Amino acid sequence: MPVILSIDTSCDETSVAVTQGLVVISNVIASQVELHKKFGGVFPTVAKQAHIENIDACILLALKKAQIDFANLDAIAVTQGPGLAPALEVGINKAKQLAEKYQKPLIAVNHIEGHLLSPLAQRNGKIKKQQLTTQFPVLSIIVSGGHTQFVLVTDIGQYQILGLTIDDAAGEALDKVGRMLDLGYPAGSVIEEFAKKGDPNKIKFALPMTTTKDFNLSFSGLKTQARNLIEKKQLNKQEIFDFAASFQYAVFRHICYKLNKVLQTEKINEIWLGGGVAANITLRRMIRETIGNHKNLLTRNLKTQTKVKLYTPFEKKLCGDNAAMIGVVAYFKFINKNTIHNLNQLDRIPRLNLT
Ligand code: KG4
Ligand code: ZN
Repeated sequence: MPVILSIDTSCDETSVAVTQGLVVISNVIASQVELHKKFGGVFPTVAKQAHIENIDACILLALKKAQIDFANLDAIAVTQGPGLAPALEVGINKAKQLAEKYQKPLIAVNHIEGHLLSPLAQRNGKIKKQQLTTQFPVLSIIVSGGHTQFVLVTDIGQYQILGLTIDDAAGEALDKVGRMLDLGYPAGSVIEEFAKKGDPNKIKFALPMTTTKDFNLSFSGLKTQARNLIEKKQLNKQEIFDFAASFQYAVFRHICYKLNKVLQTEKINEIWLGGGVAANITLRRMIRETIGNHKNLLTRNLKTQTKVKLYTPFEKKLCGDNAAMIGVVAYFKFINKNTIHNLNQLDRIPRLNLT
């Protein structure tokens, strides 16, 4: 199994991982959250500077944790996009330097594909499933701070976007409403915690796009409803808990409403969930309930007649931005000989799409 060192500097985490096939050997993340908190969002030049300061230490630590050195690597992989241009540049320059110095093949990876394939990452344990047991077609649900989309996966690398947000991403909406409630940045996980103490039915948000037939999503209307309510009155502690619970519930109900529509139309065998918001336990539960409510949702495998299963990354760390998910994509590219021969060919693509 090829051993790959992967780098992700797409946004505000400097991450370096060592993977062997689909197995995560090390996955180091240096978070910049504290640096960006005072801006209430990610400041690109600050992110770039922090990546420059952190990247060498992250590489050394990832190798040390994996107990290997550069000589043992089969390839170097790096996120090409999407992301913040100055941030992406740091990882790409470093990956090129390493590839040249140690004469390793270089692999360019799409960050969204990293989130998409993150459920395939395997824990470093005694039993390693080296065979991919996936039953395509798969429905991938990507829910992050930058993206929210339903993707039909007919094979690794074969993606068709069925629907996506037409404005904010789900994580972005949670972060923006979190800012309105003074919950800091990023707010998704704080909202999840607050929601546990609140009533999700306290505030009724109108669900967006229920009359459209497509699988697209929209979160800006929910955000505006939230702003109007927050501006109207000063909320006490319990009311903030209720607000967090109700807003989170509305965001996830919208996703599940559209998921239900997808399931009514598309025949799929498995569902994968990835992205920062995928760490949320309530979202996972609601998606499982949505799948469970489909009585005739059977896999195509007539022998097993099993229900469609939801697969999530094996640990929360793999939901948010991390380099191990880049390593998973890189593994498939490596075995398909999809590597870069001329280093000058690799440049950042800040607005790179999945398809
Ligand atoms: O995937 P990610 O780390 O970065 C992007 O590629 O966008 O996602 C970050 C997003 C943020 O909006 C953050 O608030 C959200 O994921 N997030 C959560 C949770 N943890 C992170 N949202 C809801 N519940 C969580 N537990
Ligand atoms: Zn991401």
